[in-house]
Amino acid sequence: MYLIRKIFLGLRGIIGYVFHEYPFYFNYDKKELIDFACRKIIPEIKSFADLGGVWRINGAYTFYTLKTYTIPSAFLVDTNFNSTVIEKSKEVKNLKLVEGGFGESAVLETIGNVDAVLLFDVLLHQVQPDWNEVLKMYSTRTKCFLIFNQQFTHSEKTIRLMDLGMDEYFSHVKMNRSDPVYQDLILHFNEIHPTFNKPWKDIHYYWQWGITNNDLISTMNDFGFEMKYHKNCGQFSNFPSFENHAFIFLKK
Ligand SMILES: C[S@@+](CC[C@H](N)C(=O)[O-])C[C@H]1O[C@@H](n2cnc3c(N)ncnc32)[C@H](O)[C@@H]1O
Repeated sequence: MYLIRKIFLGLRGIIGYVFHEYPFYFNYDKKELIDFACRKIIPEIKSFADLGGVWRINGAYTFYTLKTYTIPSAFLVDTNFNSTVIEKSKEVKNLKLVEGGFGESAVLETIGNVDAVLLFDVLLHQVQPDWNEVLKMYSTRTKCFLIFNQQFTHSEKTIRLMDLGMDEYFSHVKMNRSDPVYQDLILHFNEIHPTFNKPWKDIHYYWQWGITNNDLISTMNDFGFEMKYHKNCGQFSNFPSFENHAFIFLKK
């Protein structure tokens, strides 16, 4: 099943690239989420911030949204920009690139208030501020969240994956632990990261949280948001404990 899905996604990636110039990893469930929000939930949308839109996808969801809908103001936030995104952003006058962490006060000040915040494949990576603290920070700055996240299905409650110990961590996070990126994590676990000034185990490059649907939905309700869209997009890769889920939350 996993292999068949991988082949299907590969073919779709090639077709999307050839016919639409989407990056190979462009995800059509995320496109559907954007389209549903911009057509049905907040058709009056005038601004948005795409938080963490760079790795492997080069701002594709920001560029797709700006090309498809008339939106006067957009922000793309990330700690790591590359020349592809920087060059492409020069063609789009209503887009501002914001380099920094989601929780940094300068980033929050630059964004101000926006109609929608996109959090695609980023929520489970957030520590200091944690995933729920990031949502809280932006809940007073937006009326609509578009969330696509790998949701944890292995327990009732949300867990911090890094607290499990490395053996159990890698039983859920099916990454290659001998990959240099993960070797660095294991080697420097509690040391302060030279760029981000917090322990390696808290860095957003790694899988940090197993967030359950119940906890995400109740957290959003606590912040005054109602779920308007939810789609289970199936198991994430070959990770048995995670499913891709798409959500739209609108301020009550
Ligand atoms: C897994 S990628 C997801 C990329 C894209 N949103 C997608 O759906 O394919 C995570 C991206 O978010 C950025 N990121 C994650 N947490 C961040 C944070 N707290 N501050 C700034 N950038 C962050 C990473 O640098 C990376 O580019």
